[in-house]
Amino acid sequence: MVVTSRTESPEAEPSGSGLPLPELTSRPRHVAIIMDGNGRWARARGLGRSEGHRAGAEAIRPVIERLAAHGVEVLTLFGFSTENWGRPRAEVQTILRLGGEFIDRYLDELHRQGVQLRHLGDPERLPAALQKRVRHAVERTAHNDRMIVNLAFNYGGRADIVDAVRRLVEEGVPAALITEDAITSRLATAGLPEPDLLIRTGGERRVSNFLVWQSSYSEYYFTDLQWPDFDAAAVDAALLEYASRRRRFGRVDDGVEDSDTAITGTGG
Ligand code: FPP
Repeated sequence: MVVTSRTESPEAEPSGSGLPLPELTSRPRHVAIIMDGNGRWARARGLGRSEGHRAGAEAIRPVIERLAAHGVEVLTLFGFSTENWGRPRAEVQTILRLGGEFIDRYLDELHRQGVQLRHLGDPERLPAALQKRVRHAVERTAHNDRMIVNLAFNYGGRADIVDAVRRLVEEGVPAALITEDAITSRLATAGLPEPDLLIRTGGERRVSNFLVWQSSYSEYYFTDLQWPDFDAAAVDAALLEYASRRRRFGRVDDGVEDSDTAITGTGG
């Protein structure tokens, strides 16, 4: 499985655009994206919100391609949150329909390219036709190992944690054995590396109940680009910024002595 074994350089892969692939000194294994700004992209062009979501769905394919070319192993896309049910009914229907159309349109191609599709979130409330498409896509691509793409549809980070805790209770796990690992291994992302890089487009700087447990040590990257404008060059910019960050996971850098760090202690 690529998630545990990928070591080869991604340079030989097609880049997914005419752009040369920049050299990265480090690259994230798992990238998670909050695809925000479809509505504002549409409004700025005098279009309806549905057109913005349609353009947003079209932006996804080149981004997958570019991240795969960089050797990213896992991509998680926030397609529809548990809170998005609160949007007008017609808009909810549009987003869910676009999710199904995305699968119809790209499943063959993604399968050929070795992408494994997974679903994060509760499928029960999704329209039956979308559930069926998602199930089919997940089953068909289950053995692919170039890249995992998680489609988060009816996903909420808190609901993910609640479900994990419910599982622990159902399994009768005693309180003393309820550890961080015990919860992590029962989340929707069990077995995957945590997101190294969390990207949010659309200019807002918040996490909006996305992978709240899993992103504790993610590097956040916020861009003012609206999601439909997020392209291969924007992927490169985000990954270059990631490569420039120093990740400390609550520790201090080796060889660095800093009295402020000693006082504050837990700075991440
Ligand atoms: C946020 O923009 C976007 C969404 C809530 C939906 C994202 C859905 C897609 C890109 C289409 C289908 C998805 C998949 C995975 C195939 P917004 O409406 O909040 O924009 P605004 O903040 O400008 O109003």
